[in-house]
Amino acid sequence: MISINKPLLDEREVEAVARVLRSGRLTSRTESGSMVAQFETAFAEFVRTKHAFAVNNGTAALYLSLLASKVGPGSEVVLPSFTFVSTAEAVVLADATPVFVDIDPETYNTDPEEVEKAVTGKTRAIIPVDLYGLPVEMKTFNEVAEKHGLIIIEDAAQAHGAQYAGKPAGSFADLACWSFYASKNLTTGEGGMITTNSDEFAEKLPSMRSHGENEEYISSMVGGNFRMPEMEAAIGSVQLQKLPAFLERRQRNAERLAAKLQKVKDLKLPIVPEGYIHSWYLFTVRLKDSTEKKRDEIVEELRKLGIGATVYYRVPIHMMPFYRKYCITHLPNTEKAATQVFSLPIHPAVTAKQIDFIADSLQNLLQ
Ligand SMILES: Cc1ncc(COP(=O)(O)O)c(C=O)c1O
Repeated sequence: MISINKPLLDEREVEAVARVLRSGRLTSRTESGSMVAQFETAFAEFVRTKHAFAVNNGTAALYLSLLASKVGPGSEVVLPSFTFVSTAEAVVLADATPVFVDIDPETYNTDPEEVEKAVTGKTRAIIPVDLYGLPVEMKTFNEVAEKHGLIIIEDAAQAHGAQYAGKPAGSFADLACWSFYASKNLTTGEGGMITTNSDEFAEKLPSMRSHGENEEYISSMVGGNFRMPEMEAAIGSVQLQKLPAFLERRQRNAERLAAKLQKVKDLKLPIVPEGYIHSWYLFTVRLKDSTEKKRDEIVEELRKLGIGATVYYRVPIHMMPFYRKYCITHLPNTEKAATQVFSLPIHPAVTAKQIDFIADSLQNLLQ
């Protein structure tokens, strides 16, 4: 099977982990000069933000960012429903209320105009998601946030390497949350990061991720154990060095696949508006004017051919059993996209020959 995504590891990661094991220093809890600190410095440089704080996964990054923003009972947080469940889950874990808004059907990203309509006196934050690796149109989000005094927590879990207006995704938000889950453009197995330019957030986050301690065993605020282990940070540092080459291969595969599928009239290909750089975490196509059944049949046929086509996201969050109670209206663009999209493998280990096979197979199925 040509998998939809795949961690790309070699002896360099193995050696980095072995070095940590030989050192006997497995956690960064009490030590300076740790692998975690090195990874944070390198990641902040990559995202061009002042600060970066490693955590144990992307969900924790979102949860801590909400807590640090004082999002809690009585607060509303505006976010898309067409995303991985974590985005909304973190809001509920913070005891706040998720307010789901619709997407722009062209980009699948949150429609900034819908955000403004959803703002009430209780709104405290917005979580735009750079879905599939395409950054959101941050200019309008920033304007809405400024007008209503809201905090922007960008869910950049899929956007490593993406850019908007000449700057990395994540660098326009108050806080940006990253995931290093095994499928991501850069992986540590499980892992996450919060980046920010704010000194105020930077002061709180290190203690919040470690039991609210400012001094060992003395908690001055509520926190938890959200620390990244040293072995993961060691893997992350190696992966970060490899990331430019990974991104280049993703870009090359995306371009080749797009060129080959250009003329398939039933397909809507992913768009990259002027001034944006896609991270190509996922190459997502849409079967125009199709039913869910027809889309599922095509995905199934591709999988029988050994192509790991996958649907992200089949059930929008506001339609999931637990989350239905938070949404009383329909989100038509979200609901329609969920029945028509599917993603095709373009990760760095996919060869040009495999890209041609994917394109030819899909074209044949749609003839
Ligand atoms: C958009 C989005 N948000 C949040 C997350 C949560 O990250 P993690 O799985 O590292 O908790 C993910 C990744 O899985 C994601 O894709």
